[in-house]
Amino acid sequence: MRILALESSCDESAVAVYDDQAGLLAHEIHSQVDLHRVYGGVVPELASRDHVRRLLPLVRAAMTAADTTPAQLDGVAYTAGPGLIGALLTGAALGRSLAFAWNVPAVGIHHLEGHLLAPLLEPEAPPFPHLALLVSGGHTMLIDVAAPGRYQILGETRDDAAGEAFDKSAKLLGLPYPGGPELARLATGGRATRFDFPRPMLDRAGLEFSFSGLKTAVSLAVRDQASAGTLDEGTRADIAAGVQEAIVDTLVRKTLRALEQTGRDALVVAGGVGANRALRQRLDDAAARAGARVFYPRIEFCTDNAAMIAVAGMARLKAGQHETPAIRARASWSLQDLGSLQELGS
Ligand code: KG4
Ligand code: ZN
Repeated sequence: MRILALESSCDESAVAVYDDQAGLLAHEIHSQVDLHRVYGGVVPELASRDHVRRLLPLVRAAMTAADTTPAQLDGVAYTAGPGLIGALLTGAALGRSLAFAWNVPAVGIHHLEGHLLAPLLEPEAPPFPHLALLVSGGHTMLIDVAAPGRYQILGETRDDAAGEAFDKSAKLLGLPYPGGPELARLATGGRATRFDFPRPMLDRAGLEFSFSGLKTAVSLAVRDQASAGTLDEGTRADIAAGVQEAIVDTLVRKTLRALEQTGRDALVVAGGVGANRALRQRLDDAAARAGARVFYPRIEFCTDNAAMIAVAGMARLKAGQHETPAIRARASWSLQDLGSLQELGS
């Protein structure tokens, strides 16, 4: 079985061709980072318009790279939510229409399920059940994954997501958008101990997160250093290292707590912040001490891509799920509302 997959929930236009025997045959991506940079963040209307321009040429490029004709395709998967509604609709409209024209089934995929299943693209796939730490620009969640499709949210953020905390802190430090990777780069030369940033909710039982207080603390530190005339490159690196440490420390300690509570011995780390080296290092060490193995997607599949949508799409199409001819997308959509995929989990 071979499928085409589209991702357009935010600021990456991406297309993949995936085969259940041969694996990933092609994946193409166009990042809109340059388009949004001057605004310091994603402008939804511009994102939608750019997806409209980019997606079809990416489909052609992916089909060519995969040496695949439409007649060889058995289905089309596209991200149907959650995300920016205009951006989602461009991919949903294209995906649904291509499937209609090619007379194959289409399936709308939950973006976070894509992130959660991305490690299945790696040679060593995670076992089910497992615990998942999902850390992206829009979400921070600990999820018990009993089987593909069966997701129980154990805890999530009450306000900002971990990626948002990286991005907002980076902006306060004057780093260009998107700030997460830039802040991580700046942090490598800094001392994490000089600034002691808050680690909210750690003192409380439970698995919830809160990162909104961090940006206030960072903005105060930046202001104080600037007014003292000491906001030099070294200080900025120390602040960056302190922020990264506060975020990583919070994520690692709550994840350990969740491993203990659930008794799971495998951990999946997914989403854009999963690309962060410091987080990977600390999670590897902590999980090893707790007797758990950690599974990551490769770095390029931590952030948004269509390969992960293809994996989820293949599973759901094989389980017999497909859409009516209506084009549907949803800006918000709970992971817990997804139907299970019994056959994949066994
Ligand atoms: O999963 P993703 O590509 O998009 C969403 O679905 O949100 O995640 C993007 C987020 C951004 O906040 C970005 O700054 C963050 O992931 N990110 C990182 C790193 N790479 C991406 N944060 C920290 N360190 C990184 N290396
Ligand atoms: Zn994402």
